[in-house]
Amino acid sequence: MALALPADGKIIACDISSEYTATARKYWRQAGVESKIDLRLAPALETLDTLIAEGRAGSFDFAFIDADKENYSNYYERALVLLRPGGLITVDNVLWQRPRHRPGSERCRHTSHPRLQRKNSSR
Ligand SMILES: C[S@@+](CC[C@H](N)C(=O)[O-])C[C@H]1O[C@@H](n2cnc3c(N)ncnc32)[C@H](O)[C@@H]1O
Repeated sequence: MALALPADGKIIACDISSEYTATARKYWRQAGVESKIDLRLAPALETLDTLIAEGRAGSFDFAFIDADKENYSNYYERALVLLRPGGLITVDNVLWQRPRHRPGSERCRHTSHPRLQRKNSSR
C-alpha cells in the first residue's frame, strides 16, 4: 500500500507487537517507504480513539482491518468515523468458512458486523 501512495501519502499502522513490527520496519526501509508509515504501538482501539479525539474524523481515505477478530466491529465503527465520505474500508477474512457463516446463523452473529449482516441478508 505504501508503495502505491504518492510521496506525501501517509499510513498509520496499528500494532501491539514490537517483535513483528521490527521485521516489518526492516522491509519498509528496504522498500524506501518507512517515512510514509507512522507506526503506533498500542492496542488499535486506543489508537483509533486517540485519532478521533485529535480531530481526525473524516480525514482518512482508506482503512484495512486485519487484527484481533473480537474487535472487528469496534474497528469498523471507528473506521466509519475516521473515513471521509466515499472512503473505503476493507476487512480481511470476512469470507472465511463462508459455508458455515450464513447470514443470520449463530456463528455469523458472533463474527460479522450487524450492518454487514443486514447488507448480506438483503441480497
Ligand atoms: C494478521 S496480522 C496483520 C498483518 C498485516 N495487516 C499485514 O498485512 O502484513 C495481525 C496483527 O495484529 C496485531 N494485533 C493483535 N491484536 C492487536 C490489537 N489489539 N491492536 C493492534 N494490533 C493487534 C498482531 O500483533 C499482528 O501483528
